[in-house]
Amino acid sequence: MEYVPTPNPLREGLQSERIPDPCIVVIFGASGDLTKRKLIPSLYNLARERMLPAGFSVLGVARSEGSDSNFRDAMKKAVSEFGGGAQLDAVWESFARGLFYLSGNSQDDSTYRNIQQKLTSIERERGTCGNRLWYLATPPDAFGPIVKKLGSDGLSRPEQDSCWVRIILEKPFGRDLESARQLNEEVAQVFEEHQIYRIDHYLGKETVQNLLVFRFANGIFEPIWNRNYVDHIQITSAETIGIENRASYYEQAGALRDMIQNHMLQLLALTAMEPPATFEANAVRDEKVKVFQAIRPMNPEDVKSSTVRAQYGPGVVSGKSVPGYRKENRVDPNSITETFAALKLIVENWRWAGVPFYIRTGKGLPKRVTEIAIVFKRTPHLIFRQEGSARAESNVLAIRIQPDEGISLKFGAKLPGAGIRFQPVTMDFRYGTSFGGRLSEAYQRLLLDCMLGDATLYARRDGVEACWSLVTPILRAWESMGLKKIPQYEAGTWGPQESDAFIEGDGRTWRRL
Ligand code: BG6
Repeated sequence: MEYVPTPNPLREGLQSERIPDPCIVVIFGASGDLTKRKLIPSLYNLARERMLPAGFSVLGVARSEGSDSNFRDAMKKAVSEFGGGAQLDAVWESFARGLFYLSGNSQDDSTYRNIQQKLTSIERERGTCGNRLWYLATPPDAFGPIVKKLGSDGLSRPEQDSCWVRIILEKPFGRDLESARQLNEEVAQVFEEHQIYRIDHYLGKETVQNLLVFRFANGIFEPIWNRNYVDHIQITSAETIGIENRASYYEQAGALRDMIQNHMLQLLALTAMEPPATFEANAVRDEKVKVFQAIRPMNPEDVKSSTVRAQYGPGVVSGKSVPGYRKENRVDPNSITETFAALKLIVENWRWAGVPFYIRTGKGLPKRVTEIAIVFKRTPHLIFRQEGSARAESNVLAIRIQPDEGISLKFGAKLPGAGIRFQPVTMDFRYGTSFGGRLSEAYQRLLLDCMLGDATLYARRDGVEACWSLVTPILRAWESMGLKKIPQYEAGTWGPQESDAFIEGDGRTWRRL
């Protein structure tokens, strides 16, 4: 497909001249993986793209001893490792002058007094005018206590009317409906909803945002985006990696909480939602919540027939032998935590009545790929009956979220030569070839949006709770089954046999990716 250089409205945040107000980002959990792999490299890339305000500063807070200069060195190393090749030149020198560190335990009152003092001095030195963004990149059990202390120390409110104070909360946001509600309540005691940004990094991915442009800035897809033309929808998020030393988190999470409750339900909502009246945070989030509310919650019988869970055993991924999940470092040798989950969800509304949404995700699969496939109904009647004609396949519109980002449409084409024989071909759009260049990191977009006060790509309280209302009955039903062993799949394969049987029972098959 040809590149028509009209501006993509969803990239406006990055391309326009909208620069945030001078501000400081305070990161709790500054010595953790997220800070070095994502946050600082993304902020630095924003600096390189001249999207950060003058005086922009970061205060890293963590328990380990350290100084501003150690922190700057560690972050320099992090950027060279995870910054996507960003050069460490004069821009780094100026960015690094805005990096500060404070050693402190987030449970101690003294830490908050020290933060206040340090912020006052940085704000004076760098002219950041009291605009503050708190970033909680800590384990989730620290969220509640940190928020409480920010509240009691008066750090949740701007010191002057002209300033803003916001907070970004990382996932996991609760571990079931009850804990999510409780956390929301604790945060709401201290911050107002407009100050709260619950991050889901999938929403910052360029291709995820493009889904909205694709649907709502093109006229030809909307008329067929419904039960009259769509047979079913498949959403896949496959990873080759295992749990990468995250056993303590993953053992408590599993694929359903880790990927489906947040990222995959967000993809589903963007695929299924009605056009919002405007591209404004609450208008978009209202429509997404309506989708979550329209999904039929599962009872224990539905959970048996409409869900599959499994765990990877030993196998070969990308030519390398990998151990089974239970042999991973710090995993319980009898663990029944699922590393693969598949669900069939029913969206009960006029647009989608009778169109199932199949979702699957797993670790230790053969390929890293995330895609949304709209599988259309077959032709009502086939006039080509000639010997040797292939069976007409369904048209499929596949939105490739990552890698090799793009969109492809599969349709049948006549094979050249005598007679009428046809086979499926695809028409492709690829980001890489059409636009060139590197797609920006999701965190880059999301951090910038938060500094600009735009919550469109962040989850709202009711949305998070609605997702947990769907996932919690599945968790409870799984728990009540009292499984001693969980089905296994060989690492490097597409999950357990049960996953194929589950969709084949409906007369459909998973896409081969
Ligand atoms: C995270 C999960 O939220 O998303 C990880 O905790 C998962 O387990 C990751 O690997 C996937 O993100 P991405 O951007 O690599 O698809």
